[in-house]
Amino acid sequence: MCGIVGYTGARVAEPVLIEGLQKLEYRGYDSAGVCTVEASGAMHLRRAMGKLAALRARLATEPCPGSTGIGHTRWATHGKPSEHNAHPHRYEGVTVVHNGIIENHRALRAELQAEGHTFSSETDTEIFAHLVARERRGGASLHESVRGAVRRVHGAYALAVLDERCPGEIAFARLASPLVVGLGDGENFLASDVPAVLEHTRRFVFLEDGDTGTITAAGLTLTDVDGRPLSREATQILWSAVMAEKGGHKHFMHKEIAEQPRAVTDTLRGRLGLGDGDVTLDGVDLDVLARAKRIVITACGTSWHAGLVGRYLVEQLARVPCEVELASELRYRDPVLSDDTLVLAISQSGETADTLAALKEAKRRGTMVMSICNVIDAAIPRACAPDGSGKAAGTLYTRAGPEIGVASTKAFVTQLVALHLLALQLASVRKTMTKQALAGDLQALAELPMAIEGLLDGEDAVKAAAARYVAARDMLFLGRGLLFPIALEGALKLKEISYIHAEGYAAGEMKHGPIALIDEHMPVLVLALPGPGYEKVISNMEETRARGGRILAVVDTDDHALDDQVEALFRVPARHPRTAPVLATIPLQLFAYHVACLRGLDVDQPRNLAKSVTVE
Ligand code: AGP
Repeated sequence: MCGIVGYTGARVAEPVLIEGLQKLEYRGYDSAGVCTVEASGAMHLRRAMGKLAALRARLATEPCPGSTGIGHTRWATHGKPSEHNAHPHRYEGVTVVHNGIIENHRALRAELQAEGHTFSSETDTEIFAHLVARERRGGASLHESVRGAVRRVHGAYALAVLDERCPGEIAFARLASPLVVGLGDGENFLASDVPAVLEHTRRFVFLEDGDTGTITAAGLTLTDVDGRPLSREATQILWSAVMAEKGGHKHFMHKEIAEQPRAVTDTLRGRLGLGDGDVTLDGVDLDVLARAKRIVITACGTSWHAGLVGRYLVEQLARVPCEVELASELRYRDPVLSDDTLVLAISQSGETADTLAALKEAKRRGTMVMSICNVIDAAIPRACAPDGSGKAAGTLYTRAGPEIGVASTKAFVTQLVALHLLALQLASVRKTMTKQALAGDLQALAELPMAIEGLLDGEDAVKAAAARYVAARDMLFLGRGLLFPIALEGALKLKEISYIHAEGYAAGEMKHGPIALIDEHMPVLVLALPGPGYEKVISNMEETRARGGRILAVVDTDDHALDDQVEALFRVPARHPRTAPVLATIPLQLFAYHVACLRGLDVDQPRNLAKSVTVE
């Protein structure tokens, strides 16, 4: 996700844009840019790679005059971070900034190039500048041209557009990416999120999908994509600036948990072949995947837990032998790796020292490599970039957007989705699944965002349950099969933000030691969802309860077998065993969050932890 700001009014636009982008840097920070236009129509465009400070330095010597302008801070999805890929993008006097993903950008680029258009970036966004410019050539107004442009694209966009021929006006459009209009006195604003312009106004119009329009100093014009007039009530925002940066949430972690439906939607976007029943993974060399006779997944922490789920998916769906190794172990144990082994590194940050080192050691030993990562062009994706060797398969990017909270939530859930897509792609390449079976998984993935929304709606019940465990000193999380890694993840979430000693265990291991821990002081959370291990998990739960253990359970929405046997129940719609791990994770994230909040701890920055462990 990226950050967009727009201003038109009596002030010099540049400082309003820069301060707005500063407040949106949490949405992305690999490059930034502004474009302003003077009343004369003189247009000024400045861009810089890296954080906003680089753009500020550029503007200090090359300021942008003008009282209308747009700005952008980027979280790259197409085209690596660079100045020429930074927004705004300009063509024939039209400049655009965009937050979202255009799925059909390649076809549109080819169409425009065939008409003589020349492109200056690798981004999908630049398409909009060309489409709007082409409409403007035909005499359409700026607003009509933006509507014509968005009608041609498939995907998600929050768009702000300037044209040197109509200074003082900013056109916009919104579909599946946030965009708000700030209403001032003789001035008006556009932004991805309220914090960007909250210091200037507290009156906002929250745009809906399909809204388009223009702002000038005098006011707002709003229509649907076909030009039919719309009217939307303005909202008075009473948040403090700090609350606004977290979108009204108390913590970034809570905001990021709430963003999971969108993060999963974005990660699936353009990759779920629901129509043709196949998967389409951008940026991944399928020839390398096809040659893999063995897959070794390596990662750390939460990403390692995702890898453990990935192993079940890869072996169940694609029948490829798959192991999962802690990166800090793999890099030192002189592993047996061969040139038909694919080492898959999973990392949210793409900078974790152990994971990067393990990946490089694998490359040195001649394996094929690939990564799943949330940060475009970070060190780990760079180590997997195709290099002519035929061994680097590239990176399958999660599209969770920047994750600020140290405890990983939306990145983990999108890693599970990406691993599921990868396993389906491998199955498709190796023909180990029927079209019908593959379609069943694709449909289950498509239903995830809505199912997660439903679980987030049930947060109050989880919060109430959390209150009963605030004083716990220890806690066990038990799961089997695909849910064993989720037991590990639930325990990690609790321990890293509430400092309660929590352990995840394979439920089948209870009799081999952990059951000695069970007494009335030991809460045990059991993941009892439909699947091969369900009956056995129930037996493990009975054994635990018989010894006085305090039981909590995650169960299927329609399962009432445990209703009067446990202290707390978290219900999830586990309709498909292979997407159940995603759904089971949501209540565990919320449980850990509320226990930590009730213990008055710093949820976003827990003691002793860093968001990215770039040292060994
Ligand atoms: C998870 O909540 C932790 N923040 C930590 O375990 C994290 O997953 C681990 O450090 C790996 O980070 P990465 O995904 O950026 O490589």
